Amino acid sequence: MNILIIGGRGTIGKKVVKHFDGIHEVIIASRTEVGMPVDISDSASIKAMFEQIGQVDAIVCIAGEAKWAAFNSLSEADYYIGLRSKLMGQVNLVRIGQHYLSEKGSITLSTGILADDPVLKTASAAMVNGAIHSFVQAVALEMDRGIRVNVVSLGLVEDAYEKYKSYFPGHIPITMKQACMAYERSVMGTDNGKIIRIYK
Ligand SMILES: NC(=O)c1ccc[n+]([C@@H]2O[C@H](COP(=O)([O-])OP(=O)(O)OC[C@H]3O[C@@H](n4cnc5c(N)ncnc54)[C@H](OP(=O)(O)O)[C@@H]3O)[C@@H](O)[C@H]2O)c1
Repeated sequence: MNILIIGGRGTIGKKVVKHFDGIHEVIIASRTEVGMPVDISDSASIKAMFEQIGQVDAIVCIAGEAKWAAFNSLSEADYYIGLRSKLMGQVNLVRIGQHYLSEKGSITLSTGILADDPVLKTASAAMVNGAIHSFVQAVALEMDRGIRVNVVSLGLVEDAYEKYKSYFPGHIPITMKQACMAYERSVMGTDNGKIIRIYK
């Protein structure tokens, strides 16, 4: 199977790449990836990436940004960061990427616990995650050629614990193994239109 992993050098992405690599052919893409640059907030960039790669069996997105700040300091422009990158970036990956998938291929998006259990300063990030959950459930009803679409929604992962622990008091981080297995379930299993929640 050849698997495109966008954000494959990030905190979560690099562990997911390691999980699949060797068993499958993994292609890594991101804004700074020399061989396969892509900015998911720009649909022309997404299209150019797929033209370069050609057909894949699975698309995994572990990328996308949203602004974290107190509600009263978030400007309208701040919201558009998350809308353009994490939300529409992943929507456009499905819109464009479906045409480059083999029959019965899959698309896996990423959100996070904020959709269900937000913390302070996440009005924008939580909103975007929730929108992606609704999008995935709806779009899965309309995919052709047996293509599946799921979203992995993780709690704070252990490799990001030190960086984010002040935002998540009392949260027990999930292991990187649990995170990788969630992506494996989406790519290798039969789930479709599912929100694969891994929270502790
Ligand atoms: N860390 C956690 O505990 C946690 C928990 C639940 C959900 N999540 C979500 O999971 C995703 C990944 O988290 P992470 O902690 O692994 O983040 P990270 O360490 O910042 O890695 C993100 C990766 O995505 C790429 N990227 C960012 N924006 C992009 C864009 N517009 N186009 C293409 N590539 C882009 C980055 O590479 P370049 O800079 O080269 O583009 C980077 O490799 C995020 O959406 C995050 O919200 C994280």
